[in-house]
This record gives sequence, structure tokens and C-alpha cells, in this order.
Amino acid sequence: MTSLLDIGRLAKSQIVELLDSAASLRDVHPNRDQLTGSSIALLFFEPSTRTRISFELAGRSLGADVVSYSPETSSAKKGESDRDTVLTLAAMGVDMMVVRHPSVGFGNKVAEWTGLPVINGGDGRGSHPTQTLADLLTLRDRFGRIDGLSVGLVGDIVNSRVARGSISALPLLGADLTLIGPQGLLPRNPIPGVRTSTDLDSKLGELDVVYLLRVQKERGGGSYYPSDAEYHHRFGLTAERALNMKPDAVVMHPGPINRGVELEGGVADGPSSLILDQVANGIPVRMAAILRSMAAIS
Ligand code: CP
Repeated sequence: MTSLLDIGRLAKSQIVELLDSAASLRDVHPNRDQLTGSSIALLFFEPSTRTRISFELAGRSLGADVVSYSPETSSAKKGESDRDTVLTLAAMGVDMMVVRHPSVGFGNKVAEWTGLPVINGGDGRGSHPTQTLADLLTLRDRFGRIDGLSVGLVGDIVNSRVARGSISALPLLGADLTLIGPQGLLPRNPIPGVRTSTDLDSKLGELDVVYLLRVQKERGGGSYYPSDAEYHHRFGLTAERALNMKPDAVVMHPGPINRGVELEGGVADGPSSLILDQVANGIPVRMAAILRSMAAIS
């Protein structure tokens, strides 16, 4: 069984293989019959737009039946537990599951309970491996490499599963990483080979990639600065601040974005923004991840 639960468990060669597979699925018209007769259940216990819909599109474009669960419209409303929900979907004979849940490690539990391949679509502060893969593919497309890029992750590092994935994968692929944000939102303990800073302005001119992160208010991230306006003043990528970026530097964000907080709307929509490229790359990356998981059962 080949689950994809945490990018940190993959070797560099496995990450590159997934990126190559995603790129080839994008460049060559996919065989839509590859997964005919297979079914994929998407169990999203937390809200999602990009991840859930791109998994739906990815699965369907490979020929799989894709069914989607959400707690708001299910028997969770009648008191059914998350574990019983998972076992119920497994009993219906689905072939694999994609799971998003607020608890770190929930995907691992689903894999244990069901014996099915599981892709983690985001678990609390834990991991979001297909987002990391979409980001890596986007960087590779733009720069032709990841090795040697200077990347700044800006914002709520400590509560972000996206940051955790980048902290694992980017140095492994040779990028130079700096974590930038309010002291309370930076990791408490040093991470070997990774720098930290509380001063975005002093770092901006050194970066090839300014990767902005949403403050995770639902995980307590909002308590480390006085207001959205104050956060925007110190860490928001304004059009004025963006003038200090390198000429070829790019702006990234996993979404959803909060215009006027992490970044100004004009920067999100501007020529240096790769935000919608990240979204678009989510589909081939998820096709590659699904095929990798399904290969184990075909
Ligand atoms: N980036 C991301 O995971 O977005 P969604 O929450 O919309 O899936």
C-alpha cells in the first residue's frame, strides 16, 4: 500500500519522480481509462476549495469514480464519529481515500483502520503533501530548478502545515530557506540549515521567492499580533514593499488569500504572482499522487 501522508517521509528521488510524473500528465493528454472501475472517497472534515475540487478533477480525469463526504451534509450531524464514518465509506468498497482533518496524524489512522491507500489532504498543523508538490512543480516550471533558490516563507510558520512541508522539502532539493514572521509565529527551536527573521524588509531584496502564508486564526495564530492592519503594516506584501524585491522574484501563497492582510490585492494579481499557477499545478500533482497510490492495488 502506498499512502502519501507526509512529504517529510519521501526521499528526494521520490519527490522528483512525483514532479516528473505530474509534469508528464500535464504535457501529454492523460489516458482517461487508467482508473476506470476504481473509486476514490474524499473525506474532508475541514473546509477546502482548492484541494477538494482539484482531487475531484484529478480523479475523474483518470477515469475513477469520485465521491465526496462533508460533515455538514452527513450523518455526523446525527452523532456518527469520524472513525465510524471512515469505516462506513470503506465498507462501501472504495479503493482509496483522500482525507483532510483538524487532527495531526488522522490520515495515518485512516490507513490503519481501513488498510486502504490514503492521501493526506491536510491534517491540522501537520502536513499537506500535495500542496508542497504543487508548489515545487510551480517553482521548477518558473526557474527550471529548485536548487540554489533563496526562498522566504513569511507569516504564520508555526501553525502552518504548508510551512512544515516546505521546511522538509525545499532544503532537501537544495533551496536556501528563511522563515520570516512575528517572533511568536516562528519555530521556538532552531531548525538546522534554516534561518529565521522577524524583519521582512531587511530580507526582501535577497529572496527569489516570497512565499506568503495566511495567519491561521483557527489555530491561535491571531494572538501574536494586535490587528490585521498591524500585521499588514509589518509583514504584508504591499505594492510599495514589492518594489524592493529582486526584478525576477516571484510571489507565492497556498490560498486562500486574505487581501489586505498577507498581501495587497494588486500584488496577488500582479505579474510576479504565481498564485494561480500553484492552483493549476494542483491537478496534475494530484493525478500523479493518485496514480502512485493506486498502483499498489492495481
Ligand atoms: N491551499 C489549500 O489547501 O487550499 P484549500 O483549503 O482551499 O484546499
